[in-house]
Amino acid sequence: MTTILSRSNPYPLTPQAEAGVAPGSRDIEELVGNTPLIRLKNLAADLPSGVRVYGKAEFFNPGGSVKDRAALSMVRDGERRGLLSPGKTIIDASSGNTGIAYAWIGAALGYQVRICLPENASPERKKMLKAFGAEVTLTSAQEGTDGAQRLVKEIVAREPGRYFYPDQYNNDANWRAHYHGTAGEIWEQTGGQITHFVAGLGTTGTFVGTTRRLKELNPLVQCLSFQPEFPLHGLEGMKHLATALVPGIWDEHLPDQQLWASTEEAYTMVKRLAREEGLFVGISAGAAVATSLKVARTLSEGVVVTILCDGADKYLSDRFWDED
Ligand SMILES: Cc1ncc(COP(=O)(O)O)c(C=O)c1O
Repeated sequence: MTTILSRSNPYPLTPQAEAGVAPGSRDIEELVGNTPLIRLKNLAADLPSGVRVYGKAEFFNPGGSVKDRAALSMVRDGERRGLLSPGKTIIDASSGNTGIAYAWIGAALGYQVRICLPENASPERKKMLKAFGAEVTLTSAQEGTDGAQRLVKEIVAREPGRYFYPDQYNNDANWRAHYHGTAGEIWEQTGGQITHFVAGLGTTGTFVGTTRRLKELNPLVQCLSFQPEFPLHGLEGMKHLATALVPGIWDEHLPDQQLWASTEEAYTMVKRLAREEGLFVGISAGAAVATSLKVARTLSEGVVVTILCDGADKYLSDRFWDED
């Protein structure tokens, strides 16, 4: 007897392709967010069975970081308010990830992008910015993103008509991206069971927006922020607020607790995440997991969620990989 095998197409077309819509015409909104929530089973193996720890895998965004959410939200807000229109250049200060987000979004939407970033940003970030066609202006490493912000303000003051300056540190569309996106995703992905939210502070947009919405969904959710423990640190993207320009969008009354993370524990956790969970994440994600595990160790029951802001690929040139 001859068996006729029905062979399903291993490469099915997307609904858009079937409808004859070119991939480039898809809304880029569809590509940002809706990232996986990953349970950290091995690193949390010693915790009581009622305690679970999850990381939101933001490196799944097209630009490789959580900042795609904020950048897209600020760009769209600028367009809606008539501040960004064809011919204008998007300019902002960034430690790298927001810059990369503006750069790919600008390339996709047809806007020029100029980024001021501290000269000690990783070479991978600088290369990615250039790959997307962004103009990069380097500022002093000592002054961090505060120095980059000062330079952007000077550039914009010289030629105000030429630029759209979202100013991610003072733009409500930054935290709103997380209020409307990240928080609801976490809520749904945990079936409303989240008990603790842990996030680090850079512009503070992720923590502020996610916390505001989670508290509306369940006021009992504990929201804990963390910062680098010293002014000079290796947690790229994060700020030591006591010694930095405090972002205008920050609300110091939001955290239920403020915690501190060290660069060393972040490096150690980045390596453990790679080797023990198969997760290749960046330094601030290492700090976020180290902090979340400390929080989880104080619980007998709970669902702790943190943000894995970006992947490790942008930090491959860092020396800590070679140290034991
Ligand atoms: C790697 C990394 N982690 C954490 C953050 C902090 O996120 P937020 O700016 O939303 O506070 C950033 C911000 O740029 C970042 O690039």
